[in-house]
Amino acid sequence: MRLWGTSEGSSLDPAFERLNASLPFDRRLYPQDIRGSIAWARALARAGLLTPEEYHAIVAGLEAVKTELDTGAFTFHPTDEDIHTAVERRLTECIGPAAGKLHTGRSRNDQVATDLRLFLMEAWPRLDEGLRELEEALATQAEAHLDLLMPGYTHLQRAQPIRYAHWCLAHAWAFERDRARLRDAYPYLATLPLGSGALSGTPFPVDREALARELGFLSVSPNSLDAVSDRDFVAEFLFIAAMIGVHFSRLAEDLILFASAEFGFVALDPAYTTGSSLMPQKRNPDALELARAKAGRLVGHLMGFLLVLKGLPSGYNKDLQEDKEPVFDAVDTLEALLAVLPGLVRTMQPRPERMRSALEEAMLATELADYLVRKGVPFREAHRAVSGLVEESLREGKPLSALPVEAMRRHHPAFDSDVYAALDSEAAVERRAILGGTARGAIEAQIQALRARWAT
Ligand code: ARG
Repeated sequence: MRLWGTSEGSSLDPAFERLNASLPFDRRLYPQDIRGSIAWARALARAGLLTPEEYHAIVAGLEAVKTELDTGAFTFHPTDEDIHTAVERRLTECIGPAAGKLHTGRSRNDQVATDLRLFLMEAWPRLDEGLRELEEALATQAEAHLDLLMPGYTHLQRAQPIRYAHWCLAHAWAFERDRARLRDAYPYLATLPLGSGALSGTPFPVDREALARELGFLSVSPNSLDAVSDRDFVAEFLFIAAMIGVHFSRLAEDLILFASAEFGFVALDPAYTTGSSLMPQKRNPDALELARAKAGRLVGHLMGFLLVLKGLPSGYNKDLQEDKEPVFDAVDTLEALLAVLPGLVRTMQPRPERMRSALEEAMLATELADYLVRKGVPFREAHRAVSGLVEESLREGKPLSALPVEAMRRHHPAFDSDVYAALDSEAAVERRAILGGTARGAIEAQIQALRARWAT
């Protein structure tokens, strides 16, 4: 029995029925649907629309339906179009006509928007916790190897020495911004649409504020027509998910490079790599490759759903049923990656000798320019002089520190015998003691700042 129309109504083309049904994917909203319905029943009872007996029968019935769904005892019916109709159909079977009062003043339009918001409100802390765990793994790596130097890159060319910890924390800060994005978006997400009816508001004196408090919402939607059409919270979530996915992909790409024989900066724990079926010597970074790839699908969900929303007329349209699959898939994708990446990061081993041998002296050319700057030489002039010097060292096949001071003086008279002290990676990173720099103290300050944020 359908919840709309009359039983004599003409039947639907079965293929259309399958297209129209959202049950195959929205059945996972049943816990939120039942929570929302119990709260709605209470609101109706408070408004005098249900007798205490009817109210208790509805709540007991909904709880019984929930148990059936929890245990797998629930049998879906071919005419169950979505989870909302399935739950109500079963409630009617369980408690009889009183079930028919539950939908008083409510529409599936405000109901489905409420359910999906509740679903994401529950996912939020899990995502936040997963991101924090990943940040912690990165910070633990940083702390365990504070004095390890490696090349920092621009254009994927060796640029300047940095601490390995600085690289670890660079990724941690990106995830910290993602956590902040979740926090900022939460008040919009936690806005209650229930009580909006189909589009114009419920005509019964339901206390929406109490309903919001009971369901954990922070506020109540101010316009019923907006409330049933608004899927900004979905688009915002999908953006945050896409951003996290992009951050995963960048971390993954760094690590795929670093774990390659060519770089050899880190060794991944074998628990996160696979062997080759053909080449016995290979370990493939599949976990990281998948982390890199999933960004594509997350970005796709955002793009796809924005296009669903574009140009929709006011009010509920069936197009909005397309909101659920991207939401579920984005949550599942993020959770699957967050279950793996913290462990992968925690267990990877940096390889100090490989990092050290990649710290070629040419990366200290900037230090020579800065040396001249400290002697009062304008930076542009210093840069020109050092460029000449670097060219000479390449031509001669000698490292910069092997050039005698007289040779250096030919490029700029301000060079002196104290110049060799500038050609030291350790000293170079320690000079970056500025806030946000790569000196040891600046790194420790970053770790403290991250910890302070986790504590809030
Ligand atoms: N299954 C629908 C959805 O997911 C529920 C809302 C149906 N509302 C309607 N007026 N047909 O969007």
